[in-house]
Amino acid sequence: MATITVKGGEALGGRVMVSGSKNAALPIIFASLLTKGESVIRRVPDIGDVRVATSIIESLGARCERSGDTLLINTERLTFRRPDDNLVSQIRASTYLLGASLARFGIAAIQSFGGCDFCKRPIDLHLLACRAFGADVRGDSIFSHGLRGASIRFPKVSVGATVNAILLAATASGKSRIENFAREPHIFNLIDYLRSAGADIQVLENVIIIHGRELHGGNVAIDGDPIEAGTYAALSAITGGNITVLGIDPASLESYLAPLLEAGAQLDTDDGITLRALPKEQTSIVAEPYPGFPTDLQPIAAPILACARGGTIEDRVWQGRFGYLAALAPFGVRYRAYPTGAEIFPSELRAADTIAPDLRGGAAALLIALAAVGESRIRSSEIIARGYENIEKKLRTLGAEIRIDN
Ligand code: UD1
Repeated sequence: MATITVKGGEALGGRVMVSGSKNAALPIIFASLLTKGESVIRRVPDIGDVRVATSIIESLGARCERSGDTLLINTERLTFRRPDDNLVSQIRASTYLLGASLARFGIAAIQSFGGCDFCKRPIDLHLLACRAFGADVRGDSIFSHGLRGASIRFPKVSVGATVNAILLAATASGKSRIENFAREPHIFNLIDYLRSAGADIQVLENVIIIHGRELHGGNVAIDGDPIEAGTYAALSAITGGNITVLGIDPASLESYLAPLLEAGAQLDTDDGITLRALPKEQTSIVAEPYPGFPTDLQPIAAPILACARGGTIEDRVWQGRFGYLAALAPFGVRYRAYPTGAEIFPSELRAADTIAPDLRGGAAALLIALAAVGESRIRSSEIIARGYENIEKKLRTLGAEIRIDN
């Protein structure tokens, strides 16, 4: 288990380049299983979740080679086997194996899919998609004798189930229609990759239309990570610093920045993104599916509210995603949690020790620790490295005193 030790309370400043988006890289790595040939994926973050995803596809016969931030994946010769439960249970993105494995091998295993344990994470919508394309769910396996194009309208918007429906439709015979789908930017990054591999995908206002095709290797660059960008932007504001976040399209942070700016935070976008000042008023945040405020950034916004005038956070994607606040309490963060949200009060911070509860909750604790004067420790911090590339090096460049002991 790793522990991060930081000496906080200093204004941090400088320029930081965000890495490729975790949530875009993961579906693309699994989507490569649909193709026969070599794919070139650029700007792939070297983070724990990507390493696990790569190991899973290697266990099916894919040959992966990293050169700098480019990942070459050769999927010419693959064989189905039930992936190692220990790997699958580490990352939520292993649910993409349902669609990818069914499409490539006609069989997929239902396993204990992992990921951050902040809420109950059902897979009913993923199974709904598999059945719609003609697959049979029997016990802990799913079988298909040739996927058929389908019309599916999800009863609820799900990023993961949308990814699986796209993967199933990409090589299924005939035409598919997917309605009530997730519109997060990483869904479009996945579509870019599949198109580069020969897929026929059209996105209209309310429906995705896909004509199934055989796919060859693809070539794509992963977009900058908006969650990582939002994290460094928050760090700038809460330390009273001047951090310029580079490598991200400001438009992809619009929904995150909107409530902060409405409450009086100051933003500079002349050269990258700099969040210069904290909100001057109470901030009200409601996390919703895209284009709403991203749920993965609500734990990152909590330190901003605590350092500014407080406010409320409601999460309509993961209603119970507030367990992380208990990990911020030792630092003096004051809050009142209720079933679908929390009220955060302006807080006097102090250095403390805590345990990283999950990836984004752990990042929130690290932000608070960097804002609080004195030496703090975040234990079980390896979970943060699952989603942040080179975090120690990047924070040092910004002037942070940080040490990670493994
Ligand atoms: C992905 C992201 C995660 C982010 C989430 C929402 C990855 C690897 N993870 O997770 O970081 O927090 O999107 O933006 O990209 N649901 C069901 N049944 C299902 C599937 C989901 O009811 O079969 C519900 C969930 O309980 C949740 C909501 O749908 O309330 C959204 O979940 P979903 O969008 O599927 O999240 P993930 O794809 O798991």
